Amino acid sequence: MSENTGAVTGASILLDEVTKQYPGQIKPAVGGLTLEIPAGSIVMFVGPSGCGKTTTLKMINRLIEPTGGKIVINGEDVTKMDGDTLRRRIGYVIQAGGLFPHMTVAANIAIVPKMLGWNKAKIAARVDELLELVSLDPAIYRDRYPKELSGGQQQRVGVARALAADPPVLLMDEPFGAVDPITRQRLQDELLNIQSEVQKTIVMVTHDFDEAVKLGDWIAVFDEGAQLVQYDSPERILANPANEFVENFIGSGAGLKQLTLTKVHEVELMDAVTAQPGELASDVLSRIQGAGASHAVILDSRSRPVRRLNRRQLSRLQLIDDTIDESMPVVGDRATLNDALDTMLVASSESAVVTGRRDVFRGVINVKTIMEAIAQANAMAEAAAGDAPVGLNSGAIPALAVANAVAAEASQSRDNLEQPVSAEEPR
Ligand SMILES: Nc1ncnc2c1ncn2[C@@H]1O[C@H](COP(=O)(O)OP(=O)(O)OP(=O)(O)O)[C@@H](O)[C@H]1O
Ligand SMILES: [Mg+2]
Repeated sequence: MSENTGAVTGASILLDEVTKQYPGQIKPAVGGLTLEIPAGSIVMFVGPSGCGKTTTLKMINRLIEPTGGKIVINGEDVTKMDGDTLRRRIGYVIQAGGLFPHMTVAANIAIVPKMLGWNKAKIAARVDELLELVSLDPAIYRDRYPKELSGGQQQRVGVARALAADPPVLLMDEPFGAVDPITRQRLQDELLNIQSEVQKTIVMVTHDFDEAVKLGDWIAVFDEGAQLVQYDSPERILANPANEFVENFIGSGAGLKQLTLTKVHEVELMDAVTAQPGELASDVLSRIQGAGASHAVILDSRSRPVRRLNRRQLSRLQLIDDTIDESMPVVGDRATLNDALDTMLVASSESAVVTGRRDVFRGVINVKTIMEAIAQANAMAEAAAGDAPVGLNSGAIPALAVANAVAAEASQSRDNLEQPVSAEEPR
């Protein structure tokens, strides 16, 4: 889930009894869906293939025209607004970035600012700013073509492009589906980092329930016809799935999934002895002996960890050189404890180095910390099962009644965030 540290720049979105009936189809792909997406939040759409997630998402920027109902963004009915104008205000990210292969990274990112008539200097500055934001060095990447990037890098450029004109809303359709698990984890962490700065309203489709729990402030679980089965916070969905369908969707090991709810920065990290290239190994060795530590973490000039050295390795060295160890277990502080555990297992290490913004060293996390957090998370899950979510998913509740129920619930709701409204017409 995102941390609310920055100012909210996102817009609220209301789908008001929205329907999409494709020509020649018997049932509507989306049937009378009412869904409130609060400003500055991340809402995750999950559900089986073909249930209408993409259709719902694309109706928000009218890449698909609804056949019924209204779309309201920040109080403004955009259902009849010019589609191109609307889409310039909404960032859109698709799988594998969807970059134009014949355009450089910079040109790809600049598409919307160009259409908006920004001058060259402003565009160039914005491109560099965004590349920094998604952790790609502008000097290295701005003039590359998409095929000269890895999948994860392409995806980052896709996110940068969607953010280019600073839109209040970001729509993402399985943006991290095509990358390997480790890269996906980094991209997710990065998105949460970015979100803590920009506070957009983000609607994301995913097939991965863990991803939904990790990123979502709210999760909408859909069944066929975009029938809303449950719309609630990740905690409450895990603790109290609405029915067997949701239970099956969550999958086995819901208890362990609580691990996905806790972020690395939420647990107490351990300090570590740090050192820089150029130092005498014997000095560092005496420091870790003094601290009773097993390793020293070597940091570069920008405080980014590059390598870990244990006592034995240090005793064989003269000077600390600037070797980089690619296999050192590193995890971002936005990662989940689950991610951290994975990282340690892959590296066969009992601990991992933790980094924060711009990959700066934050501390060390170990298996023991994680085990303690599992115990705590399970205890909290027991407690959370007590406060039942509002029954917003039953089809017959009219939107107004739902809104009233939400107003009543708001005071109880976590983080003072109002629970989003959701309802579906009976079919
Ligand atoms: N252009 C179209 N014409 C007719 N039917 C369509 C069209 N696009 C989608 N559909 C149908 O509408 C339903 C919802 O499709 P949609 O793409 O929204 O599903 P989804 O939930 O995104 O699925 P997935 O998880 O596989 O991406 C499906 O039954 C699909 O076959
Ligand atoms: Mg889809």
